Amino acid sequence: MKRVGIARLRRFAKIYNRWRYRGRNRVHRKAFTGDFPRLLQENGAPSAWPPRIQLRDGWARDDSLTLPHLDRVLEQSAEIVRERGGTKHSSTQQPFLRGLLFPGDLERYPAILDFILSSEVLATAAQHLNTTPVLSKTLPPGVRFMESNAALDPDANGPFRESQLYHLDLHDTPLVYVLVLVEDVTEESGPWTFLSASTSARAKAALRYQRRGCDYRITDEQMYSVIDPKEAISFTGKKGSVLFIDSSDCFHYGSRRAVRPRFQLMYGLTTPCRCDLFQTSYENTYPIPPDASALRRMVTEPWR
Ligand SMILES: [Fe+2]
Repeated sequence: MKRVGIARLRRFAKIYNRWRYRGRNRVHRKAFTGDFPRLLQENGAPSAWPPRIQLRDGWARDDSLTLPHLDRVLEQSAEIVRERGGTKHSSTQQPFLRGLLFPGDLERYPAILDFILSSEVLATAAQHLNTTPVLSKTLPPGVRFMESNAALDPDANGPFRESQLYHLDLHDTPLVYVLVLVEDVTEESGPWTFLSASTSARAKAALRYQRRGCDYRITDEQMYSVIDPKEAISFTGKKGSVLFIDSSDCFHYGSRRAVRPRFQLMYGLTTPCRCDLFQTSYENTYPIPPDASALRRMVTEPWR
């Protein structure tokens, strides 16, 4: 990627996916431009259009604790934390960021999907994506429940690595990540830390990021040679706080020395035509209730 240049590869993938998934692209776009308020209404209240929460400069946070199904999400998440938190479940994961969801969990804990597929959350994502969203069909999975815990990382005191370093996500542009704090998060929890889209654009140009020869991960030293460290924003807060962010436009890192464990739900919403080619080889599937609305189906149904 470094040799060819990430920007070039992403451009190629986008063009290819626009051709390969043109039918699907058309369906999502038509639903968005023609019928979206009605689709939201049929999917359930609150269905305001334009949405109450809108991304500005690449992000928006909501601390109102009023988003649909959030209380159920927090209850069901607490059950998962009680049952699985603080333990190594698999050695194939990043040691500082571990998944707590197992097969069958989206059926067992239905609030997790009910929240992300609610009209209010989908409206915010759709407005930013300018189309009807897709719950990520490949990597990253559309739904993750992650624990960041320094006690589970044998190299917790070593240099920062992988997603502990600044980067922009590659899988699509635009995209919307929705992060939910399942427990209170402080600076000791290795919070998700990001730069706004305008600061990121400045850094991207100065670092020649995604151009040929530039690394995917950026050290703090590199980043803070082109921007002021005070421009970094930490997603700390009370449980139930929600961050909407375009992580392909906003540099970010997280899970740094989480001495107080961080539990966070992470959802990935994309457009139908991504900037990677993984989708050609496999596809995540999500449970669809028999009475699912047309919008919910469109966001989660399999394409194959
Ligand atoms: Fe990322």
